[in-house]
Amino acid sequence: MSNKALEYVGSRISAENLTGFCARVMQAFGLSADHARQTAEVLVTTDTWGTHSHGTRQLLPLMHNVRKGGLFADAEPQVLTDGPGFAVVDGNYAMPMVTSRFAMQAAMDKARTAGIAYSAVRHSGHFGAAGYYAVMAAEHDMIGISMTNADICMTVPGARSSVMGTNPIAYAVPAGKERPVFLDIATSVVAISKVIAAKTAGKPIPEGWLVDERGLPTTSTDTYPDKGAVLPMAGHKGYGLALLVEILTGVLTGASFLSGIKRWLAPEPEPADEGHAFLAVNVESLMPLDQFKSRMDAMIDEVRSAPKAEGSDRIYLPGEMEWERRDAALRDGLQLPDYVLINLFAVAEQTEKTDELIALLKKE
Ligand SMILES: NC(=O)c1ccc[n+]([C@@H]2O[C@H](COP(=O)([O-])OP(=O)(O)OC[C@H]3O[C@@H](n4cnc5c(N)ncnc54)[C@H](O)[C@@H]3O)[C@@H](O)[C@H]2O)c1
Repeated sequence: MSNKALEYVGSRISAENLTGFCARVMQAFGLSADHARQTAEVLVTTDTWGTHSHGTRQLLPLMHNVRKGGLFADAEPQVLTDGPGFAVVDGNYAMPMVTSRFAMQAAMDKARTAGIAYSAVRHSGHFGAAGYYAVMAAEHDMIGISMTNADICMTVPGARSSVMGTNPIAYAVPAGKERPVFLDIATSVVAISKVIAAKTAGKPIPEGWLVDERGLPTTSTDTYPDKGAVLPMAGHKGYGLALLVEILTGVLTGASFLSGIKRWLAPEPEPADEGHAFLAVNVESLMPLDQFKSRMDAMIDEVRSAPKAEGSDRIYLPGEMEWERRDAALRDGLQLPDYVLINLFAVAEQTEKTDELIALLKKE
């Protein structure tokens, strides 16, 4: 780690300064101010939720893709064809966060009159945390669902090696007094980054995370990721759900699917052709909004007030931990893990304005 990055470990950076830093870095790589700002907004929001694996840490590999031709700094997403309740969007290998915001916005606009709408995206890349786009809908009193396919690294029951990606899916639902309920998960049993972290620390992993090159369960990471594959969550149930994500994001969108998707983290990345799917349900089309929101509050209350297990003093709703982390991050600033800081300094060092950019990351 550079000495400068080390100095930031344990200190706090405001979300605003981090957003400004990321946006300026992306402009140095040729992105427009608008695309840079939109992408920074997605990455920093993800960090405020505490999902650091998919926040600003991704700036480095994203800019690597821009440099190597996996993404195009000046491309714009466009609607190829649409109807009252759907849109097919060509990402044209623009920044995937920009394309995803564009596509979810298209679904929301259509859902306002159609009640429900689906946006299908082809020719895109790594869009980060699925949850950001689902929450966009919830912030406008809609139910949002978002998902993506990804390059293969997950096996399925009976297979010897990787068949599909970790295909994340997220939903967000508005409530009344309560914050939106918001689940954002990969369909693999564990994120690949956690397997790599155990390997780096020289620790074994729990049974049920990986299979070896024979397709048999293993607790060793010795030959991973060259050999072996991560397992789907909950066996055949995660596999089945991941397959639905593959269909809605890959098969139906016209994007690549399964082994056709290129690896965005390759040293020499090509356009990955990942596909995404976004669904918006306009609550008001089905039920008066106030009624829905108070029903959501009642449901949340019943879940939360269920008798607690021995040793447990709290039941969380999906998303609750993220909202609490975000409140703290916006109030006190973000304390970024060292692996995020390493990437932020590394990407700034690839520009001609390293010192000027790093100065934007003022410590609080
Ligand atoms: N773009 C891609 O290719 C890609 C691929 C895989 C994952 N991802 C992203 O990685 C991120 C992390 O995924 P993950 O599978 O490691 O997530 P995870 O296992 O950490 O689960 C997080 C979700 O579970 C909820 N949750 C956690 N504990 C809870 C509890 N006790 N009670 C209720 N809810 C609880 C959280 O609120 C959150 O919604 C996600 O943002 C996902 O979209 C992206």
